[in-house]
Amino acid sequence: MNFDPNLYIEANIKSIRKILSPEESGKVLAACSGGVDSTVSAVLVARALGKPIKAVFIDDGLRRKGEPESVVKILKELGLDAFIYDAKKEVLGALKGKVDPEEKRKAFREAFYTVLGKLVREMNAKYLVQGTIAADIVETVGGVKTQHNVLEQLGIDTSKYGFKVIEPIKDLYKPQVREVARKLGIPKEISERRAFPGPGLAIRIVGEVTWEKLEILRNATQIVEEETNDLDSFQNFSVLLDLKATGVKDGKRIYGYILVVRVVASEDAMTAKFVEIPYERLRKLSQRITAEVPEITRVLYDVTDKPPATIEFE
Ligand code: XMP
Repeated sequence: MNFDPNLYIEANIKSIRKILSPEESGKVLAACSGGVDSTVSAVLVARALGKPIKAVFIDDGLRRKGEPESVVKILKELGLDAFIYDAKKEVLGALKGKVDPEEKRKAFREAFYTVLGKLVREMNAKYLVQGTIAADIVETVGGVKTQHNVLEQLGIDTSKYGFKVIEPIKDLYKPQVREVARKLGIPKEISERRAFPGPGLAIRIVGEVTWEKLEILRNATQIVEEETNDLDSFQNFSVLLDLKATGVKDGKRIYGYILVVRVVASEDAMTAKFVEIPYERLRKLSQRITAEVPEITRVLYDVTDKPPATIEFE
């Protein structure tokens, strides 16, 4: 059956109005990451209420370079009352010493929602809007991985955090979300933005997350995006391994990090194929990374599809 974004928006706004009234707009907080899912969710709720709503970007230290500021700017342009909340201490503190991927995901989720709960209380709000979509629920409930934003479907009682969750687009898959975003007039920068996981760079650092590794990965990520954003891909990113490798620079032995570059094509993230990047582009990418991020001595390219791999490493 064909999906009609206009009909969907109309029906969605009606169902939001059944839960929330415009008088309650001050009681609503949208958790916004700058991704298409959370932006569409926040804009739908604001449209349904006919008023701007508060939208928070949680700066947990796990985002890309300059991301908090650039996202808040766009959210404001969309008419949301957007602001940054610094939660680096809480979130990175919770991840300290954790190496197991599922433990890291759960620690992230707990810290993230504890921060949001605190914020909701401080702001005297009652509802938390978030951009959960169908694939998030299918994979988490199916046991593929613990997606940070899937709570109630797993039987987690969100009243412990002190808010009620509103997930306006939890029945949609990514391509449909993008169609809705375009119809809502959300700029291309967001409607076509590649997916970025909720736990951010934490699940792109294999093993323990430290500030040093985060800064290395942020620098490498910027180069990977600059060099591969023009390719037709679903996601293009890099992963820092918890292994080191020997290298040689200016005639001297060095011992540094190994970075994996991953570029995949996919429709809905349920399956994916690695993108066949020409060797000369891979060489340029590797040369730029090792020159501009001296802590990295080796760059690998991941040639595994999903399945059997997942898109992310953790
Ligand atoms: P995998 O690695 O399972 O990823 O193939 C499928 C898609 O989901 C994204 N992803 C996440 N998104 N919270 C999110 O919001 C998460 O915890 C999470 N984990 C994975 C991933 O980037 C890919 O697009």
